[in-house]
Amino acid sequence: MRSLIVGHGGRESALGMRMSQSSTLYAFMGHVNPTLADMVLRTGGEYTIGDVCDARAIADYATEKSVDVAMVSSDNPLEAGVVDALQASGIPAVGPTRDGAEIEWNKAFSRQVVSKIEPEANPQYILVRDIDGLACAISDMSKGGRQVVIKPVGLTGGKGVKVVGPHLADNEAAYEYGSSIILSGQAGGAVIVEERIDAPEFTIQAMTDGNKVVFPPATYDYPYRYDGDSGPGTGGMGSYSMTDGLLPFLDKSTYEHACQITEDAIHYLARDGRHFTGCMNAGFFATEDGPKVIEFNSRFGDPEGLNIMTLFEGDWVDVMYAMHHGKLNDLLVPLARESSVVVYLVSPEYALKQGNPHRFSLDVNRASADGVNVYFSSACEESPGQFVTVGTSRAVAFAAHAPILADAREQVYGVIGSIVDGPLEYRKDIALI
Ligand code: GLY
Repeated sequence: MRSLIVGHGGRESALGMRMSQSSTLYAFMGHVNPTLADMVLRTGGEYTIGDVCDARAIADYATEKSVDVAMVSSDNPLEAGVVDALQASGIPAVGPTRDGAEIEWNKAFSRQVVSKIEPEANPQYILVRDIDGLACAISDMSKGGRQVVIKPVGLTGGKGVKVVGPHLADNEAAYEYGSSIILSGQAGGAVIVEERIDAPEFTIQAMTDGNKVVFPPATYDYPYRYDGDSGPGTGGMGSYSMTDGLLPFLDKSTYEHACQITEDAIHYLARDGRHFTGCMNAGFFATEDGPKVIEFNSRFGDPEGLNIMTLFEGDWVDVMYAMHHGKLNDLLVPLARESSVVVYLVSPEYALKQGNPHRFSLDVNRASADGVNVYFSSACEESPGQFVTVGTSRAVAFAAHAPILADAREQVYGVIGSIVDGPLEYRKDIALI
């Protein structure tokens, strides 16, 4: 059995690690991710380096290697139609096609879907496609002293949403930011102006074959760069989930309500003729009036997907087949009934500015011996145990699970403190509740 993972982030490391337990792993990635390279080597597979958005090249590679099943769970490749190309080449591929993934790469479409399935779950919002309407939209949305949020309509790697207060000084700054998106034509060349909601956030990573949906524990992400949720937004500095599947601020009925909204969104896509398999990572605010949708991602969250893969106790290749053939069921997705913690180590300049490569060392075997999984992301191995960052991003994640959240947390931070050497930075308050 040959499986293919497309991508090179921590999420792909976690998925690839699971896939390697029951198949020969192949990887198509943008740089040599040390976790994936290791899994490929262990299983006798192969990897290649290329543009992970080059749908044609990926489909050709999968065909040449006689891949039996492929997994795509990364936003840009999904928008680029990698699943469409794989399927057109007859390769069973898990992940939405480009039109299924529109729920992530077009935030205007995503808001329309919520308006159809449960309008009250949308915050108030105005879609602005040209500069003339922007000032008016900001002024309307901020009536009654409300603060506004500016969201680019297209993909921004988790760094595009800016909120008046923490990120933008005032409405003038919101206008400047919104107009820069519209005028540049980047990230969809349009913005959504939304009301700011102040409520705790959580994510539901709904795994699906397009019809049946399996719900894992809710996860809590830390999107801000520094402790205490200060600093700029990032792709996520860490995350946790709890043994009871809920979160300190999340009760069962709000969790179930959010699951229902997510399932309704998946079924809406199916009715609309859009192919969606894999994972929908749905972000919500837990408000007193029920869950409000922040956004839908058409793939596992990163880091949140690492929580789920760390807890997963089944055969992920079986799950991929079941997702592809419309045969998913709960029994195929056993998850340890424990708490999980993920902490990312990042380049010092991450989310701030471009930086130079940084060298660091760590001993993956020692982490494993202490029950901690290491998932590399934007880093390459220069020599055994010696690594260098690639770009200015998240370099490597550490994950563990334990019956009690505090123990999982201690395990992760204990390993980071004892086996990593180098200038990488990380938040010290992940899962500190
Ligand atoms: N952690 C947020 C995301 O995966 O987009």
